[in-house]
Amino acid sequence: MNVIIRNTSAEASLWAARHIAAKINEKAAKEPGKPFVIGLCTGSTPIETYAELIRMVKAGEVSFKNVISFNMDEYVGLPEDHPESYHSFMHKYLFDHIDEKPENIHILNGNAPDPAAECEAYEKAIEAAGGFDLFLGGVGEDGHIAFNEPFSSLQSRTRVVTLTLDTRIVNSRFFGGDWKQVPAQAMSVGVATVLGAKEVVILAFGGKKARAIKDAIEGPISHYCTLSGMQNHPNGIVVCDEPAVGELKVNSYRYFKAVEEAENL
Ligand code: GLP
Repeated sequence: MNVIIRNTSAEASLWAARHIAAKINEKAAKEPGKPFVIGLCTGSTPIETYAELIRMVKAGEVSFKNVISFNMDEYVGLPEDHPESYHSFMHKYLFDHIDEKPENIHILNGNAPDPAAECEAYEKAIEAAGGFDLFLGGVGEDGHIAFNEPFSSLQSRTRVVTLTLDTRIVNSRFFGGDWKQVPAQAMSVGVATVLGAKEVVILAFGGKKARAIKDAIEGPISHYCTLSGMQNHPNGIVVCDEPAVGELKVNSYRYFKAVEEAENL
């Protein structure tokens, strides 16, 4: 696992956006015509990364014309046009401003009449697209990746999940501060779905993520902190601002800084 540390979330977001754009451009050059398959996340964390990607698309530095995306999760039972649905979020912060084809955008339907069939079909669609080139994710304060709450199997695949009270309370800031308004269930790709990507890029900003980052990087691989599953991934990068690495051991911090310095020599 590699850890990129920047002073601020703004700088870390620029790093992530440019990294993603470089990967899209690299595949377009190496395998012309082949789509780039990306996993995308929601939350406050990726907003600046999406803003930079939008700028890059508008400036002609990258194109999403040959990108296929799959979002990682969606609330169950929330109308698609609800302002806090992940459908609304993605259109507002990314899709409405880039050149990705509407038919290449995939988001789980949290109102599907047969939720299990919806989740199964999602896994099949990811496979049919050729699997993920890159998965962009965030992390919950308890170390959850997508909506894989503590004690989700590290072998999990897309399914309906029950949200913990902690997550509903944390996410209540988007629902007028009332945790009861936060849906109790979601559909989420599994830990194994994310880790099946060729590359996984996780963003973590702010001191509230420091414990999750410490557990994921220095702790054991455990379903207690599902992000720790990243330790088994051959190509995982965690992009942090300084507060998010505030709980790492000084030696771990120095190690990751030294690796990045050495690679840039
Ligand atoms: C939710 C999402 C996660 C996201 C997390 C952190 O639980 N399901 O995908 O990573 O929130 O959100 P934020 O970026 O707002 O801190």
